[in-house]
Amino acid sequence: MIVVTGATGALNGATVEHLLKRVPAEQIGVSVRDAAKAQHFADRGVRVRQGSYEDLAALRRSFEGADQVLLVSSNDPHADAVALHRVGIEAVVAAGARRILYTSHQGAGTDSPFHPARDHAATEEILAGSGVAWTSLRNGFYAHSLGWLLGPWQQTGTITAPSDGPVSWTDRADAAEAAAVILAGDRTFEGPVTLTARQAVTFDDIAAMASKISDREVKRVVRTTRSGSRTRSQPARRRRWHG
Ligand SMILES: NC(=O)c1ccc[n+]([C@@H]2O[C@H](COP(=O)([O-])OP(=O)(O)OC[C@H]3O[C@@H](n4cnc5c(N)ncnc54)[C@H](OP(=O)(O)O)[C@@H]3O)[C@@H](O)[C@H]2O)c1
Repeated sequence: MIVVTGATGALNGATVEHLLKRVPAEQIGVSVRDAAKAQHFADRGVRVRQGSYEDLAALRRSFEGADQVLLVSSNDPHADAVALHRVGIEAVVAAGARRILYTSHQGAGTDSPFHPARDHAATEEILAGSGVAWTSLRNGFYAHSLGWLLGPWQQTGTITAPSDGPVSWTDRADAAEAAAVILAGDRTFEGPVTLTARQAVTFDDIAAMASKISDREVKRVVRTTRSGSRTRSQPARRRRWHG
């Protein structure tokens, strides 16, 4: 059996949908904080059990009989995420599953300036010491975050944001499907595996794309300080990286 946590959320909910296309429903379980929110899976034959990273005993029961368990990373910015993930890993070990999978992040690293990346690296260290085979799904930055990062460019005609580097913005739906393919497939992935879009783009690139799509010039403005902004000239330079 494959047991998935966070199945009431966007990412792992979509992963369960993809699993249902690949694996018989009776071989899929979900471990969720509120079973009522997973009724749509129960109705289709998925085993639904209550579990949370705050309750080791319940979590272990929800993993009973699992061959593989997919652990979602905490979405609570105020929580001690690593402590919660440690409970999740301990529960999988106690339940005797063969493999733990975990939703990590591209660039996970102990010295990253991005706080979640340090939490993911610390969690991967716990996984490595767990004694159980593990796969860390290092998902790319969700592409839909661009909706608020880019600001109201459709009204203003400018993308105003701090200086940036290329990012392989990734569709969360693709990350969900990739997780299901790995869970249901025959190929084994040991340790960290990076799951991102093939191409990394800068805000310059995005301004160029926005100009093309909207058929008008969209400028890229680099916000440097509170007192002023530096504007880059168009057309934006195009660069390509593979993430
Ligand atoms: N790659 C990126 O750019 C990016 C961006 C944002 C977040 N993330 C990470 O990716 C994860 C999944 O993303 P998402 O979009 O699916 O988030 P989401 O829709 O907020 O789903 C998070 C899921 O985690 C569950 N959860 C939260 N705390 C828990 C706990 N203590 N014990 C058990 N389950 C818990 C939630 O349960 P409930 O339904 O009961 O609340 C929910 O099902 C996030 O949690 C976050 O760590 C990645």
